[in-house]
Amino acid sequence: MKYPLLENAFSNQDIKKGMQVLKTKYITMSEKTRKFEKTFAKKNQSNYALMCNSGSSANLLMVAAACNPIRKKRLKKNDEVIIPSVCWSTSLWPLLQYGLKPVFVDVDIKTLNIDIDQLKKRITKKTKAIMAVHVLGLSSDMSEIIKICKKRNLILFEDTCESLGSKYKNKKLGNFGDFGSYSFYYSHQITSGEGGMLVCKNKNDYELVKCLRSHGWSRNTHFHSYYKNKYKNLDDKFLFINSGYNLRPLDITAAIADNQYKRLDLFIKERSKNRNVLIKKIMNSKNWKNQFHFINPQKNMTPSWFGLPILINKKYIKKKKKFLRFLETKGIENRPIVSGNFLNQPATKLYKIKSKGSFLNSQVIEETGFFIGLHTKKIKPKLIDYIVKNLLMIDKL
Ligand SMILES: Cc1ncc(COP(=O)(O)O)c(C=O)c1O
Repeated sequence: MKYPLLENAFSNQDIKKGMQVLKTKYITMSEKTRKFEKTFAKKNQSNYALMCNSGSSANLLMVAAACNPIRKKRLKKNDEVIIPSVCWSTSLWPLLQYGLKPVFVDVDIKTLNIDIDQLKKRITKKTKAIMAVHVLGLSSDMSEIIKICKKRNLILFEDTCESLGSKYKNKKLGNFGDFGSYSFYYSHQITSGEGGMLVCKNKNDYELVKCLRSHGWSRNTHFHSYYKNKYKNLDDKFLFINSGYNLRPLDITAAIADNQYKRLDLFIKERSKNRNVLIKKIMNSKNWKNQFHFINPQKNMTPSWFGLPILINKKYIKKKKKFLRFLETKGIENRPIVSGNFLNQPATKLYKIKSKGSFLNSQVIEETGFFIGLHTKKIKPKLIDYIVKNLLMIDKL
């Protein structure tokens, strides 16, 4: 038996939608992308949505926009940005690439997300933004984060790449901040292989990220007519009005993601049911001896689960590597909880990234944590028994 992170990622209809685009022989970003952006913005309760070729690209774009000279309120070199120590690499790198100073803050073990008390302690006059990273469908107390941002006039980024569809007080994550990002990579809440989405609150930011996504061109942005009139001597097909990248998606991925997105609510329900069945079966097993700790949603949180995060009992810490290898040999795919404590990653040494304070919880998550997938279809009882049996083998190794 096998239990990969995700199974049968694409339906026949998803494939058909992708193929239809391919058959037109016009696969670069066009109508399908624009359609998906509109649908996404509406259903995700976002003012504006812009599709990119990955969640990392969405992160890069939102930081680039917040630092852009065109923006009145903007981040400047050496401004401090608070970021949780359990984060993804590309939640962090855009900050460094734009000369900002990341200030790491430990996470709360109950939510795997940034610890609010620690966050308050690390805010200084130099703090200008927060990069929240919503881990595996969970979030911090967003009311508190918003309160802090308002009081201090901070920019809020939400890396929601692992939490598409999660809600806090019934509001979808990614919409609390000035900018939010999502990923459609394999095994995420929906997938188009690669792909991402950026959402933002105001039109100026939307037009700016659109421009930065495509080379810094004015084309298809509200800046175009102004520059066209001002630079009459130039060919207005190519007016470069800002810095930029090429972070555009393919229309093929937009068509697939759009079709998957129709099933997001169903996926959320199925993943949640599978999670509940797995936990119940584990805890009702005759072999259950508190080998694991599970993360439960805190007040006001409605998670859209990405996977099933598990913390092993501390007494098994020394066995953890062997245990995870054992699970792999049994076909049960597993991953660390994001990066563990990011401050332990080799790249932080290369860039001499240090942070004051204690990172005890991130360390616990690194040393005891992992996650397994949650499929978008009901897991068959036999497979559930197989997963439970092998998880509980931790005692026997
Ligand atoms: C928290 C977080 N942010 C960003 C990303 C990057 O997304 P992508 O793989 O689409 O670039 C990931 C990827 O899994 C992630 O987990």
